[in-house]
Amino acid sequence: MSYIDTQLHQIDPQLAKLLEGEYERQTKTLVMIPSENYASRAVLQTIGSIMTNKYAEGYPNERYYNGCAYYDMAENLARERAKKLFKAEHVNVQPHTGSSANMAAYYALLDIGDTVLGMSTEHGGHLTHGKKLNFSGRWFDFHTYGVSKKDERLDYDEVREIALKVKPKLIVCGASAYPRTIDFEKFRKIADEVGAFLMADIAHIIGLVAAGEHPDPVPFADIVTATTHKTLRGPRGALIMCKKELAEKIDRAVFPGTQAGPLMHQIAAKAVCFKEAQSFGFKEYQKQIVRNCAILSDCLLEKGFRLTTGGTDNHLLMIDLSDKGLNGRDAADMLEEAGICANKNSIPFDTRPPMITSGVRLGTPAATTRGMKEEEMKLIANWVAQILSNPRDHEMRLKIKIEVVELCEQFPIYLDLLNW
Ligand SMILES: Cc1ncc(COP(=O)(O)O)c(C=O)c1O
Repeated sequence: MSYIDTQLHQIDPQLAKLLEGEYERQTKTLVMIPSENYASRAVLQTIGSIMTNKYAEGYPNERYYNGCAYYDMAENLARERAKKLFKAEHVNVQPHTGSSANMAAYYALLDIGDTVLGMSTEHGGHLTHGKKLNFSGRWFDFHTYGVSKKDERLDYDEVREIALKVKPKLIVCGASAYPRTIDFEKFRKIADEVGAFLMADIAHIIGLVAAGEHPDPVPFADIVTATTHKTLRGPRGALIMCKKELAEKIDRAVFPGTQAGPLMHQIAAKAVCFKEAQSFGFKEYQKQIVRNCAILSDCLLEKGFRLTTGGTDNHLLMIDLSDKGLNGRDAADMLEEAGICANKNSIPFDTRPPMITSGVRLGTPAATTRGMKEEEMKLIANWVAQILSNPRDHEMRLKIKIEVVELCEQFPIYLDLLNW
């Protein structure tokens, strides 16, 4: 049976085959990459819809093209639902990706060369938080804070000290690889003391925030950026929330500042995911993500693995492999051989380069979407521990792969797509 429309099979069998292969991969492997998830059928249906066909530059009721009535309604739905979900004063739902949301936020607040303070990528921050290879590091004078050597957690006194020294126009908080909660109120106090704007990038934790499973940045940050495809489980994309006073600046920074035609099929799918995120089931789902991650963490600690910060408060954890004679790249490849998809990740104070690293990052959003709970997390922790403790045992990985497929079959995903 195929989940691909017969049309695609006829028109482009080559590509249809790739989609079949990816369906097989997604359904039969364990996705443990914390930034990935399985969008619902309703979201997939909307993003794969005829709404991809229209140009709608501008905003509802202020478009540069005719024929936008349904697009206006869809964008308004997305905006209003997101505003309600996050109690935000203003929302822009047009950013194509998390990176474009951050670019627009900087465009709204900064001039080229302005001083910004963000979390170092080596300690968990994102590329767009000032990495030299990224536009952010090239166009702005980024300074960085990291985590403390003592406990690998954010040291707010140190952030304050650096802020007092460099006097940034903007402080960016939020991370891609930080397993603990972030205290946005403390960041607000620091920003106020130095007269800086505060931006919270909650690309990863947005689902947790929506469900009250992580402190909320919206009351404290001038601007909040986030993605819709990670814990929020929507289509690939992003949004920006801000205070009323910045609304016009943000809207103009997204369009015409940094983007032109909005991806209206994606915006419509965002509306669907914001609706899904308002449900009781979604709140339960986010709770389970955190519970699952805590179990995974406890089991790995029991098995003698060192996790950065000693554990997790959120949807992800980071294994430090430095004392295992393994690097992150090889470890992630071994896990993949056994059907467990994770990613290599630098750990704080890593001595290895970013393409090798000493860490592996694991997360529970996707497995939790499949319905996996505590018992399955124990199984997964066991497999991860066996694989990483016996790097030469290729046979074991193949054996585990069979068990992984069996587990995936017990927690099926996208069965309904077979009748697409
Ligand atoms: C904290 C953070 N910000 C921004 C982004 C960028 O999102 P995108 O990959 O959609 O550009 C990511 C992606 O991983 C992220 O973790």
